[in-house]
Amino acid sequence: MANFETVEVVTDLLILGGGMAACGAAVEAAYWAKKNNIKVTLVDKAAMDRSGAVAMGLSAINQYVGLKDGKNTLKDYVDYVRNDLMGITREDLVANIARHVDSTVHLFEKWGLPIWKDEDGNYVHEGRWQLMINGESYKVVVAEAAKNALGMENIYERVFIVGPLMDGERVAGAVGFSVRENKFYVFKAKAVLAAMGGAVHVFKPRSSGEGLGRAWYPPWNSGSSAYFTLKAGAEMTCQEVRFIPVRFKDAYGPVGAWFLLFKSRATNAFDEEYMQTRRPELDNWVPYGHVKPIPANLRNWLGMLDVMEGKGPIYMRTEEAIEKLSQAEPDEKLRKKKLKELEAEAWEDFLDMTISQAIMWAGTNVAPEEKPSEIAAAEPYFIGSHSGASGAWVSGPEDMAPEEYQWGYCNMSTVQGLFCAGDASGASSHKFSSGSHAEGRIAGKAAVKYCVDNSDQPNVDASEVEKLKEEILAPLDRFEEFKKASSDPDINPNYIKPKAFMFRLQKIMDEYAGGVSAQFKTSKPLLDKGLELLTFLQEDSEKLAASDLHELMRCWENVHRMWQAEAHVRTLLFREETRWPGYYYRADTPKMDQKNWKCFANCQWDPNAKQWNMMKREILSIVGEPADHELLGG
Ligand code: FAD
Ligand code: ADX
Repeated sequence: MANFETVEVVTDLLILGGGMAACGAAVEAAYWAKKNNIKVTLVDKAAMDRSGAVAMGLSAINQYVGLKDGKNTLKDYVDYVRNDLMGITREDLVANIARHVDSTVHLFEKWGLPIWKDEDGNYVHEGRWQLMINGESYKVVVAEAAKNALGMENIYERVFIVGPLMDGERVAGAVGFSVRENKFYVFKAKAVLAAMGGAVHVFKPRSSGEGLGRAWYPPWNSGSSAYFTLKAGAEMTCQEVRFIPVRFKDAYGPVGAWFLLFKSRATNAFDEEYMQTRRPELDNWVPYGHVKPIPANLRNWLGMLDVMEGKGPIYMRTEEAIEKLSQAEPDEKLRKKKLKELEAEAWEDFLDMTISQAIMWAGTNVAPEEKPSEIAAAEPYFIGSHSGASGAWVSGPEDMAPEEYQWGYCNMSTVQGLFCAGDASGASSHKFSSGSHAEGRIAGKAAVKYCVDNSDQPNVDASEVEKLKEEILAPLDRFEEFKKASSDPDINPNYIKPKAFMFRLQKIMDEYAGGVSAQFKTSKPLLDKGLELLTFLQEDSEKLAASDLHELMRCWENVHRMWQAEAHVRTLLFREETRWPGYYYRADTPKMDQKNWKCFANCQWDPNAKQWNMMKREILSIVGEPADHELLGG
């Protein structure tokens, strides 16, 4: 076996990931840990300053409820999220995050994040729930607070977590390896908080050739949260609820500022505004087709109908929006100034968070005040914290959750001691960067309490650890053993390299599970076939080979993606209806079926029987869902 030192770390609470949720958990857990003499350890595959989805920076904080200002209530936010998700949401989780998120935003500001203010000192809103920020260093600011709280001696950066350690039904820690040194890590813990983000590159991206790898979701989150929780035996929810964002085409620049702040229209090649011309289609998706704002997937769907009819390209009318906003200024001199300001804001929106889009504008001679830009639906991603919903099924807050949603500590999965937050926890969409941090704080506090109440260190079977070490490092040995069998190290009869493996996974998902090439359409026969092909892929995953540590990480990233893919396909099959047509469309069950499918579609992989279980879970309202007739015309 490859010569790797085993490093053992014994701790109380183990936080996996160093992104928004993990940073929130670190800050909060450190506070409660000090009072209770609890040790907290954090592990990130990258460097916390620039890890996770916020690595490049962001231009807005997308969740701020403003409860104290009295403008919005918790119910307002819950209604918004439920409607956007076509009725499928855990209201207890959404409300719990919503009541804590403002304090997280105030912490960000205290730590130095510049939030835009108007002349009266009030936050500048992008939309009802979103605040504008100068966010190029957002992640650095948030990570600094987490690092200060925990101390660098308790943080392991550039250590890739592969999977869980178990003591029967209870989680006992995690194993992984350094991506820089020959070290195999064994973390033993009383409680584990999974916060390793969502998944990208499960589906084939639109980009190819020299642009390969460019996607909306940054490439480094590869389904580790889903893999970890699935392998531990946790019940998962909303695995079918992928997210497809409409973005500036090819460089994936955000659209929120254009639609909400600049009030831009999107039109097809014939100057028709699909949000107007396609309005009658919304009647087919009532009550959600009639709510405001129109749910993200239905906005997508109206645009897709135009594209499928050959009416593309679709354009964001930046030139028109800038002209309109500057014309609103009556004074000619001030109008020129206003125009310059708008131009600067347009560029800054991209420079803050999607620099590649600004480069693309420069490279294709786009001046947004002169020329519209193409927008398009991206490939599917798994990001339960945004407008998707996939993640683990977690216990709700004591004072809000109905009995059916409560089985222990807040944000604990169905596995003892395994907590989840951010993209790792499901059915609580629209938490975004700020809500993920707030949820991390909630979960971090609950996990410390779990450690206090369950102070025995779980048992870890040493022979099990040895077996895991062998399995995890095997791709390195396989490469060494067989590399001389062919002249090209990437092509070999005895092994498959992670990149080729990823292409295979992406092709299956793209063609059978409703990716870009299939125009997001699928059906039972297609999904059945896709599942069969995934089985062969799974068999071949035992032949993955890695020439170095970096490729070893790539091997396991793709195994993680494969598990996310299987959970997705199985749940697409299970839900026999189409509920989110702009995310995916099941051609054999093309309508929404409120009677049979207004419920959660959950799944669990049973580690003992090594088989998948699928189940429905009831939707219970805690803030009082309006009757369908009240929503109509709303
Ligand atoms: P992340 O913040 O992504 O953190 C995941 C962490 O897990 C990272 O530290 C990663 O390195 C680590 N990790 C992954 N795998 C492993 C492993 N195997 N081992 C160890 N560590 C691992 N929100 C807003 O509020 N405003 C916006 O404008 C906005 N724009 C966005 C734009 C894009 C392109 C994306 C993708 C998201 C955007 N969001 C925005 C949403 C926001 O970024 C997410 O909601 C938030 O980052 C989720 O937090 P998280 O902790 O779950 O995941
Ligand atoms: S981001 O994650 O890349 O910043 P995006 O720019 O699309 O996402 O959206 C930012 C916020 O605006 C999100 O809260 C999103 O739901 C919301 N949003 C975007 N477009 C619209 C729209 N047309 N109507 C209502 N809300 C929108």
